[in-house]
Amino acid sequence: MNILFAVSEAEPFAKTGGLADVAGALPRALAAAGDKVHLFLPLYREIKGKYKNFTPEAEVFIPVGDRRLSGAIVGLGSPPAGQHPNLKIRFIVQDELFDRPEIYGPPGSEYPDNGIRFIFFCRAVLDAVNLLNLDIDVYHSHDWQTGLIPVYLKTLYKKPPHYQGGSLFTIHNLGYQGIQDKSLMPLTGLNWEEFTFQRLEFFDQLNLLKGGLVYADKLNTVSQAYSREILKPEFGFGLEKVLQERRDDLYGILNGVDYSEWDPARDPYIDNHFQLGRMAGKKVCKKKLSTAFGLSYSANLALIGMVSRLVTQKGFDLILALLERVNEFAAKFVFLGTGDEKIETQLAKLAGRYPEKIAFIRGYDNRLAHLLEAGADIFLMPSRYEPCGLNQMYSLRYGTVPLVRATGGLDDSISHFNPQTGRGNGFKFSVYSQSALQKTLVETLEIYQKPRLWHKLRANCMRCDFSWKQSAKKYQELYKKVCK
Ligand code: ADP
Ligand code: GLC
Repeated sequence: MNILFAVSEAEPFAKTGGLADVAGALPRALAAAGDKVHLFLPLYREIKGKYKNFTPEAEVFIPVGDRRLSGAIVGLGSPPAGQHPNLKIRFIVQDELFDRPEIYGPPGSEYPDNGIRFIFFCRAVLDAVNLLNLDIDVYHSHDWQTGLIPVYLKTLYKKPPHYQGGSLFTIHNLGYQGIQDKSLMPLTGLNWEEFTFQRLEFFDQLNLLKGGLVYADKLNTVSQAYSREILKPEFGFGLEKVLQERRDDLYGILNGVDYSEWDPARDPYIDNHFQLGRMAGKKVCKKKLSTAFGLSYSANLALIGMVSRLVTQKGFDLILALLERVNEFAAKFVFLGTGDEKIETQLAKLAGRYPEKIAFIRGYDNRLAHLLEAGADIFLMPSRYEPCGLNQMYSLRYGTVPLVRATGGLDDSISHFNPQTGRGNGFKFSVYSQSALQKTLVETLEIYQKPRLWHKLRANCMRCDFSWKQSAKKYQELYKKVCK
């Protein structure tokens, strides 16, 4: 099939979170499985910094309100080594909108014109299909930034021959909806008729995510559990009724792991490789990780790590309350992340108060993220909600035991370890409370002190296989449904 993949971030070009991991790996897996994939991304400043050589393919002129914004479609002069010939990557150039220091805005905030930026992106991608004469079977878009693509395909861009393909919209996170003032409606080029409660309107505002949910031929989320959870008010962020109406078209497909990037046996970001049966490297990584965070190395204390966007979604109210009692636990904690200023400040304060046991590095650092996966004993993910979550699956391969809350993809990928049967690949609690987290941590640390059990558990983790191959097959099946 010919798949158009429109997305706002993708590895190795631009990344703020797991969406980029998925948009980097899934197109590659689909291309390897025989599909032809056309990936489109905005040309952000950081991409211009990393890749110098771009080949112009076409120009676009897009009416945005009274203005006509010009832009260009470019390809990479030379594709990254090893890239499959079935994968074609193109960028939408519009310097006024995309040549900026950040992808969406400084940490913890958003550029005020993000609505316009992504309206432009969606239209430019669809114009590209016509200008480059692409024959697309499925238009696959992701999250609010590309929520207008399914809308345009049924309105402004519905004319054959170029726009006959069906659309799939993937929800990676319902907590971000791209809600805009309704004055942006004319800038979309859409008719005010679309601004109704059944379509794009949401409490008198324009909801770009809702566009994807209402207009796409099929919908999916990134785990089975999350596809059920979002039908309930607790997880639906006000869109649960819209989703309930679409439940027959809504699927759940768990994300995969790109083991060419996340595997301790060949991880390019760590020096001391290891694998099941040859674990010496993990101990060295633990030492290096302790040093990197300014902590002393303790073989007998568990090192608990977390790499995360610092947002309430990830369970930081529970974590901060737990850390207040850090002296009760035979463990040390390392945190890497950026985001909400309040969470940053509180983590820094706690690290200052307990310098022997807690360390926090404020920043975004891929190399350090890999070292943390490799060197920690336990990975913490007590999310309030988690559409899929990738770090728990990365952790498994590194023998870093995940401690998670039973929600979304965390629930689908992690099963609680049972010392009697020796089954399970982590620790998991259900009720979102500090006491439940603490109880599970105590249980985890008890097992950590029993090396035979811990080695059994760690081996279970390292044997798990969440490679993209299986998930890509499920996307291919879903693409067939989209086309019917
Ligand atoms: P989400 O997409 O909600 O942020 P995921 O678990 O799906 O959560 O994916 C997060 C991705 O972003 C992982 O690849 C993780 O390693 C990466 N990441 C998050 N914060 C940082 C950071 N501060 N430095 C480096 N990588 C990070
Ligand atoms: C979102 C979700 C995360 C998921 C990622 C990739 O950012 O928060 O759970 O893993 O998208 O699908």
